[in-house]
Amino acid sequence: MRLSEQVTKNNKTKLLIVDDSSNNRAAISYWLGEDDYEILHAVDGPSALKIVEMFVPDIILLDYNLPGIDGIEVCQRIRAMDNLPFVPIVMMSSHAPEAQVIALEQGADEFIIMPIQATELKSRLRAMLRLKEAVSRSLELTKQNKKLQELDKIKSNFISKVSHELKTPLQAILGYTDILRQGLQGELNYPQRLMTKQIKDAGEQLLSMINQLLDFESIEKGTLQVMAEVFDIENVFDYLQQVMAPYALKKKIGLNFVLENKGIQLQSDRNLLQKALLNIISNSIKFSKEGGKVYITARDVLDGVIEFKVKDEGVGIAKSNIAYIFEKFWQVDDSITRNYGGIGIGLALAKKIITKLGGGINVESKPNAGSTFIIHIPKEYKEHESIIPKDKLLQKAI
Ligand SMILES: Nc1ncnc2c1ncn2[C@@H]1O[C@H](COP(=O)(O)OP(=O)(O)O)[C@@H](O)[C@H]1O
Ligand SMILES: [Mg+2]
Repeated sequence: MRLSEQVTKNNKTKLLIVDDSSNNRAAISYWLGEDDYEILHAVDGPSALKIVEMFVPDIILLDYNLPGIDGIEVCQRIRAMDNLPFVPIVMMSSHAPEAQVIALEQGADEFIIMPIQATELKSRLRAMLRLKEAVSRSLELTKQNKKLQELDKIKSNFISKVSHELKTPLQAILGYTDILRQGLQGELNYPQRLMTKQIKDAGEQLLSMINQLLDFESIEKGTLQVMAEVFDIENVFDYLQQVMAPYALKKKIGLNFVLENKGIQLQSDRNLLQKALLNIISNSIKFSKEGGKVYITARDVLDGVIEFKVKDEGVGIAKSNIAYIFEKFWQVDDSITRNYGGIGIGLALAKKIITKLGGGINVESKPNAGSTFIIHIPKEYKEHESIIPKDKLLQKAI
């Protein structure tokens, strides 16, 4: 039942008074009047419970001393009812304060000591109705939140499934393209070579997008494993250069890899680190103008921490957007007619990977001047250990 239905059916609050004294019930009914309240009466526990089940009141005024089943037990039984929305129970008694403590412990929300003034009773009831509304709203939000989480799970599964399904035929396309390009089915003429090259480039771009999605989903699900090994940064740079050079060449961008300290060795997940850096470097190329320069540097900073910087002279990022760029599916320009390709998960993936490796990532940027992404990771990966607090100190030291 919706909140509005519970509280404001014909705009009146449904109030159940449970009291064996007809005088008390009559007095309360008289005080509250019929304008705001629709009043239900119960003379004992069993009839109160029946009324609660059948009519679901908005609020209950419950006498502490009832004959037979006493007020406390009625309160406990109401609280134990399944499928009942939150109904505030206001306990009334002339026995204070022991009764008060017991009542509140057993599920009452408010306690009033009789005799009570009409004005005080009214304002206490109003306060309880405000509480009810707040509780109902928060329950509603929790429900919606749960629904959203379920939807998110369905979406994740869908993305994983579709990505896998797309990957198989795409790999076949790329495989046959390679066979053709190698001349295994006869020499290709010049236009055929150009066309098969286009197929290969487009296919690889699509494959890397699919892989990005699969990596992202597996990180979100927590199934991505870190496989630490010992490796040299030099080899990582060679790999990055090899992969990125064709893209840089297409836009006539100068890619510069600079190792500020020789022989830096890491014991971490090389594959993951490369993935994170590739995402950042490919952005730098993508968001640079033709003929621009991109610098990728690595150096030792503080004990056991390595710093990478990926610097471009591209379009830059406005200050107000910097907070969002690491969020999944977020892009400065997310229009269909945008100039740059991509689905907006590269940086979210890079950040998740770097965090998983125990490091952190920051960005400094100026619109139309360029961006620098700064990455710190521990040289030696240790599960559940992060350099982030140290990293913050580091900011000052640099
Ligand atoms: N080097 C950069 N220069 C300017 N903007 C950038 C740069 N890197 C990332 N961005 C901004 O951050 C957004 C998110 O990046 P990313 O998650 O890699 O998604 P995608 O590259 O698919 O758009 C980009 O769409 C872009 O607006
Ligand atoms: Mg990207």
